Amino acid sequence: MKQASFDAICHPQIQSLMQVNKDKLQEWINGLGSPLHLLFPEIFKQNIFAFKQVLDRHNINHKLLFAKKANKAQCFAAACAQQQIGIDVASIAEFELALAAGIKGDDIGLSGPHKCDRLLSLAIAHNALIAIDSLNELKDLVCLARLAKQTRGVRILLRIRPQSQKKSRFGLATAELDQAFSLCFQWREHIYLQGFSCHLSGYSTAQRGEAGHQLIDYIVQAQQLGFKCNHINIGGGFAVSYLADDSWQQSLDYEAFHGSKTFAGFYPYHNPCTGPDALEQVLQQKNEQQQMLGQRLRELSLCLMLEPGRALLDQAGISLFSVQGCKPVAGTSDCHIATVKGMSFSLSEQWFNSEFLPSPLLIPSRENIPLADTGAESLYKVAIGGNTCLDDDMLSWRFISFEQYPKKQDLIAYINTAGYQMDSNESAFHSTSPPRKIAVSLAGETITWQLDNQ
Ligand SMILES: Cc1ncc(COP(=O)(O)O)c(C=O)c1O
Repeated sequence: MKQASFDAICHPQIQSLMQVNKDKLQEWINGLGSPLHLLFPEIFKQNIFAFKQVLDRHNINHKLLFAKKANKAQCFAAACAQQQIGIDVASIAEFELALAAGIKGDDIGLSGPHKCDRLLSLAIAHNALIAIDSLNELKDLVCLARLAKQTRGVRILLRIRPQSQKKSRFGLATAELDQAFSLCFQWREHIYLQGFSCHLSGYSTAQRGEAGHQLIDYIVQAQQLGFKCNHINIGGGFAVSYLADDSWQQSLDYEAFHGSKTFAGFYPYHNPCTGPDALEQVLQQKNEQQQMLGQRLRELSLCLMLEPGRALLDQAGISLFSVQGCKPVAGTSDCHIATVKGMSFSLSEQWFNSEFLPSPLLIPSRENIPLADTGAESLYKVAIGGNTCLDDDMLSWRFISFEQYPKKQDLIAYINTAGYQMDSNESAFHSTSPPRKIAVSLAGETITWQLDNQ
């Protein structure tokens, strides 16, 4: 029965916060409401450092940009400014927030499909680096650049659709490159082709390495045509592990879901090679001439740009929900549903017709902790629902084994939710305000926190 709990990998400092400072968690929930997202900018900074270490070890000229879409909190944008890395944005609001956090326009990258004129103009005004998605977008940008009458050229990368991404809607096809070169050459007074970019779905390090080589080949081609370009941007997509391998394997066989719910598949919650280690593998990828990507970047004095989102947020956030009540599931002998204060919109995976598999933790409130060990062996199988009128509003369809019966005011903590889980899909459904976020510092003896002003 125990195997119904798939223990989430949890940073030791966060584990200790939840074990030693339960009262603090209750205090925050009481004062700031449920759900409450806790953010850990120091862990985010450690992740930045780990990526930089790999690049420095390979002696590679680089630019790291945090993919802002992965979390809306402003504390992470501020941490980027402190660590002197850039931010990848895809909307006017994200652009403004990056500037407000203290990121220089030069360090802002703009991605996304055919961007609107306002966003392109904002990027032009601040000298941001624009990843061009199509020939028509390039033509629009040329018009805007000519109108802007700036002395410097507008910095662009041509976003390529690599061979492994044939079905993607993003980027230029290889066949469109010649025309893109012609346009860049014709309008070279206004447009500065700085290099090439791509972003791959999935987490294959081999595909990322191959794409990197392909982008370098384009650089060589463009340089032969007279362009002074020297940047390649291989996007994000560095994996994270939420579960140990054995829990992940067990979770794939697990079948006890509320309403006999079935899923076509799950996000890969375990990955053998993650974050900076995945980058290491990418840099070691060889081309047909047996040259490693890192070696080629060094030899050609190119700048490697990366846009990790999820991997920089690994372990940098958890989401707390208070329990409103729990009831047996009719028609079962031993299954229950707990209702929490909050919605599954605060756990995005649930809205991709899938399940966030790492088990949440039940943190009993002081009143609900049994006075003595009852010696009871049984575990309670509990699915977790949101407090809306939507039948599908389930935070966990899976019946999770808890050692205690969830009671009013207990807390349920989902671990490692900063990357895309906590706020990508949040809405004001039922006229509720979006959940609050606090940035928590766990350094030293004292815990300090601050409301995030996103
Ligand atoms: C262009 C671009 N760059 C970077 C990212 C970040 O990817 P990840 O969070 O997987 O690192 C994305 C994600 O969709 C993207 O579209």
